Amino acid sequence: MSVRMAGRIPQHFIDELLNRVDIVDIIDSRVPLRKAGRDYQARCPFHEEKSPSFTVSQTKQFYHCFGCGAHGSAIGFLMEYEHLDFVEAVKELAQKSGMTLPALEQDNGERRQQQQDLHPILQESANFYRNQLKQHPEADKAVDYLKQRGLTGEIAAEFGIGFAPNGWDNLSSALGGNQQRIEQLITTGMAIKKDAGGHYDRFRNRIMFPIRDRRGRVIAFGGRILENNAQESASAAAGRTLGAANPKYLNSPESPLFHKGKELYGLYEARQALRQIERLLVVEGYMDVVALAQHGIRYAVATLGTALTPDHLQPLFRTSSEVVFCFDGDRAGRDAAWKALDIMLPEIRDGRTARFMFLPDGEDPDSLIRKIGKPAFEEQIETAISLSEFLLQNLTQRVDMSAIDGRARLVDLARPKLTKIGNTVFKHMIINELANRTNMPQRDLSQLLGEKPVGQQRPKTIRHNSEPRKLSPVRSIITLLLEQPQLALHATDPTRFKELEEPGIGLLVELLELIQQHPNISCGAILEHWRGKPEAKHLNKLARTPSEIPADGYEHEFHDSLRLLDKQRVERSYNQLLRKGESGSLSSEEKQQLTRLLTEKQALSRPATRPAQA
Ligand code: UTP
Ligand code: MN
Repeated sequence: MSVRMAGRIPQHFIDELLNRVDIVDIIDSRVPLRKAGRDYQARCPFHEEKSPSFTVSQTKQFYHCFGCGAHGSAIGFLMEYEHLDFVEAVKELAQKSGMTLPALEQDNGERRQQQQDLHPILQESANFYRNQLKQHPEADKAVDYLKQRGLTGEIAAEFGIGFAPNGWDNLSSALGGNQQRIEQLITTGMAIKKDAGGHYDRFRNRIMFPIRDRRGRVIAFGGRILENNAQESASAAAGRTLGAANPKYLNSPESPLFHKGKELYGLYEARQALRQIERLLVVEGYMDVVALAQHGIRYAVATLGTALTPDHLQPLFRTSSEVVFCFDGDRAGRDAAWKALDIMLPEIRDGRTARFMFLPDGEDPDSLIRKIGKPAFEEQIETAISLSEFLLQNLTQRVDMSAIDGRARLVDLARPKLTKIGNTVFKHMIINELANRTNMPQRDLSQLLGEKPVGQQRPKTIRHNSEPRKLSPVRSIITLLLEQPQLALHATDPTRFKELEEPGIGLLVELLELIQQHPNISCGAILEHWRGKPEAKHLNKLARTPSEIPADGYEHEFHDSLRLLDKQRVERSYNQLLRKGESGSLSSEEKQQLTRLLTEKQALSRPATRPAQA
């Protein structure tokens, strides 16, 4: 969503906005900062820590945590800290700095308008269902059902649980006062249009669970049929297979507000209940979340009955660095876990913990906690196995480790998994462990996996003054530009570098052009130009490369790197022309160019003369 949105708010508005606000104010009003040297520091709000590694740079308009790697502009900070999407964060900043958001593109603007108007009707629906649970003549059977499932009125109220009475138009006649509101009920899936004209309520004779977004707005519902345990298993099976007939749970359809594969039931409620969420437990069902909350486990969320998707992971790990995924103990549960693992591998970062918990046969979290209570349940959570252990177990189980070709097969099985993981300490621990278990020298294993042996990997630690910079000239220039964008003004015409085939050269040229057009742009604002684009990853990484100001400033280094690039460029063109000359003849223009290049080449190989002001 944010990527699409980013295209809609004009970039010049973002530039101006980030030019007006100060990231230090924005963060300081939420996380008090202390001045430390030229930067500001605090204990990181995004992970647990004892000593401050969260740093905010006023000159760069950029924050960065050396502990957990969180980083970004003022917009990025608000998105992370306040759990806002891109547009919401921009709005918040605009309001603070007295800027009005430009009208969003027309057609999309209309759609957005409509979306904003849909929240109230859903909130009204939730209120309606809650009132029915208190007032409807048949409310008793709903209340009894909830009681029988062990829920108290308090928990039901916290989750906003309600009752949709039997009948075709209870909700529609209560809320569908005019054509526009009827349309809204239909768009949100609360009512269903009949082919023959007219409409009827989607949810009838059901316990209603409102699904809230991260800001607590109701965006959809899940509704469970009212049935006692005896009938339950039969209809559960029927619900899953026959689906449409009368499924056990009925969910709102996809709508402008609701995307099933993205939402997590209970995340808002968990945030309301806990000040700090140390850990999240991901379960499957509505009732699991509510029953766990009833027993004092307030950190459970559910994936609405769908398998885990990559879209779930962001909000999960944004909320907590430790996530425990709960699965059934049977074959199907193990398979689901293995699929989930595949989705998680690319999202692994050092500092994030993912673990897998397998339930005893025939239990779900709801039935288990009712049986064994909170302390024993939490003990089971404690025994959840780590993602790496699950991965290793699974891989090693599938091969005969005593045979040589078994080990070879292990390597083949491990490779596709490991390539999904970024270059983290975590990955090297897994390789290490694999080496131990296969009795293979770690070096050989790494080589078989196509990895550099751990010993040869340069650790991503803070660069020391004595350690020479090992970045390529392109990267080095980009890093310096993010540190001090104004250096771009020394680069003259950047388009001359376009012909080079160095990795990242396109990005560098764009970056130089951008800064030359906006000489006062900050690092934070630069990064916003690439939000959602593939290059953002590289830029963000280089923006985080810790740097100390050398005694003679950044300019020498900048000029040296630029000179290196110019040398490469001149060499390249010069050699190309020479080769052409050997195999045929050069036009007079080409001959002139060759002379020019030769002069440039000689100039570049003389010791550098630095600009006077450097
Ligand atoms: P379960 O069948 O495991 O439900 O489905 P549950 O949470 O244990 O429910 P109770 O205990 O019988 O009340 C897990 C989740 O799968 C989705 C729902 O999100 C449910 O919470 N589901 C299940 C459906 O969407 N439709 C169905 O018919 C069944
Ligand atoms: Mn259940």
